[in-house]
Amino acid sequence: MRHVLSLFDLSTDEIRRVLEIAVDLKKKLDLGQRPGLLEHQVMGLLFEKPSLRTRVSFETLMQQLGGSSLFLGDDVGWGKREPLCDFMPILTSYVDVLVIRAKSHQKVVDATKFSQCPVINGLTDLSHPCQALADMLTVQELAGGLVDVSIAYLGDANNVTYSLAVICSKLKVQLRIGSPKMYQFEQSFLDELNDAAGSELITQTTDPRSAAEGAHFVYTDVWTSMGQEAESKQRLNDLADYQVNREIMALAREDAKFLHCLPARRGEEVSADVIDSPASVVVQQANNRLHAQKGLVVWLLTEAQSHFSV
Ligand code: CP
Ligand code: NVA
Repeated sequence: MRHVLSLFDLSTDEIRRVLEIAVDLKKKLDLGQRPGLLEHQVMGLLFEKPSLRTRVSFETLMQQLGGSSLFLGDDVGWGKREPLCDFMPILTSYVDVLVIRAKSHQKVVDATKFSQCPVINGLTDLSHPCQALADMLTVQELAGGLVDVSIAYLGDANNVTYSLAVICSKLKVQLRIGSPKMYQFEQSFLDELNDAAGSELITQTTDPRSAAEGAHFVYTDVWTSMGQEAESKQRLNDLADYQVNREIMALAREDAKFLHCLPARRGEEVSADVIDSPASVVVQQANNRLHAQKGLVVWLLTEAQSHFSV
C-alpha cells in the first residue's frame, strides 16, 4: 500500500503524473466538469493543528469528484483515548484515504504503520508535500513549464522549504535558499538532493540579496511556524534581514512573481506592498492546492494502488 508522507515517497515520474492529472482536472473544472473519479470514496482528515487551505481544499475536492470527507479534530482522541494499535486500524477500516496534519512527523510515521488505507501528510513539523505539489503547479503555469526556472526562498528553512527543496531537486528546478546560518538546512540534506539531481540545484546562503538575484520566483513563509510560538520574539529578531520587500523583489527578474504558502504575516516575512502587489500570485497558488491534491488523491487511490499494492 502506498502512502505519501514525504515527496521522497514519489518518483519524479509519479510527481509528473500527479501534476498531469491536476492540470487535466483543473481544465475540466473550468469547463464545469466534475468527473466522479472518487465516487463513494470517503476521506478522513485527522488534524491536530488549525488549517484553512489544506482542510477546505481536500474536503472540496472529495465533494467535486463524487466522494465525501470527515473532519476529525481532537475529540476522536488520537494518542489519548486508546493505543495506536487499536485507534489506527479501526479509523482506517472506515475510510478509503486519511490525511493527517500533526505536530510531530514521527507521530504520523508511527500511525501509518497501523494504517489499512493510504495516508497523506497534510503538514508536519518536517514537511508539507501537498503544498510543494501546488507550488510546482503554480510555477509551471506561470513560467510555461519547469525548464530553466529559478526560485529564491528567503527565511526559515522549515517544513514548507523542506518539501520545496525535495520537489525542486526531483523536477530539476533551481532553488536558492537565503537564511541565517542557524535557520539553514544541514548541508548533508542538500548534498543528498543535489547528488540525486546530478547537479548543484539546491543551494543556501546567508545573503538574502544574492539568493534573490535574477530569480523567476521569490518565495517566503512565516518565521514562526505553528508550534514555535515561544520562539517568536527571537525569530523576529534573527530573521529581520530576510524580509521579502520591494528592495528584494527589485533584485529578482523584472517579471518575478511572489509566492507564499499562507497564512502570511504582513510586515514580518513579507512587506504588505509586495504581497498585495500585482507580482503576488498567492491566491492562484492557494487555489492550486485544490487541483494539485486532486491529482494526488486520484493518483494515489487509482493508479498507485493498482500498480504497487502489496
Ligand atoms: N498553506 C497551508 O497549508 O495553509 P493551511 O495551514 O491553512 O492549511
Ligand atoms: N511553516 C508553516 C506553514 C503553514 C502552512 C507552519 O508550519 O506553521
